[in-house]
Amino acid sequence: MPEKTSERLNQESPEQAAYDHALRPASLDEFTGQTKVKERLEVMVQSAKIRGQTLEHILLSGPPGLGKTTLAHIMAKVMNVQIRITSGPTLEKAGDLAGLLTGLQEHDILFIDEIHRLNKSIEEYLYPAMEDFRIDIVIDQGPNARSVCLNLPPFTLIGATTRPGMLSAPLRSRFGMTNRLEYYDIASLQSILLRSASLLNLQLDDPASLEIARRSRGTPRIANNLLRWVRDYATVKGGGLASHKVTQAALDMLDIDATGLDEMDKRILET
Ligand SMILES: Nc1ncnc2c1ncn2[C@@H]1O[C@H](COP(=O)(O)OP(=O)(O)OP(=O)(O)O)[C@@H](O)[C@H]1O
Ligand SMILES: [Mg+2]
Repeated sequence: MPEKTSERLNQESPEQAAYDHALRPASLDEFTGQTKVKERLEVMVQSAKIRGQTLEHILLSGPPGLGKTTLAHIMAKVMNVQIRITSGPTLEKAGDLAGLLTGLQEHDILFIDEIHRLNKSIEEYLYPAMEDFRIDIVIDQGPNARSVCLNLPPFTLIGATTRPGMLSAPLRSRFGMTNRLEYYDIASLQSILLRSASLLNLQLDDPASLEIARRSRGTPRIANNLLRWVRDYATVKGGGLASHKVTQAALDMLDIDATGLDEMDKRILET
């Protein structure tokens, strides 16, 4: 089956990661939209700071490209702590997790992306770490094998998931707070695009940003990726200026219509 344009525009690859990184807001103030989530995180941060304690464990859920990884990085920055990053599918053995956990310093953040894909045994291993900041590790093999309890420094686990329903209830209940990210409205997408354009040194006017925002399916990553295409197109055919006309022509060339539907979507709707 041919790849959908909209999926291609919201995909993970090394180039995508570098581009995401370059456009990632560094503070809650720069992070547009998601007001409720932001307010809650702000309170958690302030409270942890005032009490001199570690931030509670946080679960971030929502569709791809809405800002979960971005928020995890922002949390580390505002708390002024290190962030260690891993993901559910890459943690294969309990030893991998133990290595990460024992390398943490007090108040550090451990970010587990796609946490719904953790395997069961690792998930159970995580419970005492989250609850009591301790893990049991098995040393030696065979008849000499014994388990040793290791204390960990208090840390914050931030879990991200696109499929919160697939998380087991015991794991979900161990998070102090669950935050669900929503799709962005047009105005928020427009301000994200204008910020990104200035980082890319691209002149983008309001009608052009509106044009891109409308075709972004409520998703900042898609908006930024469309913007990159518009920038390339404007460089070649627009003398470096992304006017409304140039933007429209660039987007038409991708076969994405005014509501963000691509060829494949239209075929699915027709049948
Ligand atoms: N609120 C926002 N304001 C500005 N830029 C944003 C915002 N949310 C996301 N972005 C941009 O969108 C891109 C994707 O965000 P991010 O990587 O955080 O998404 P994600 O939710 O982790 O996606 P995935 O589920 O695929 O991992 C980033 O480059 C970031 O710059
Ligand atoms: Mg992410």
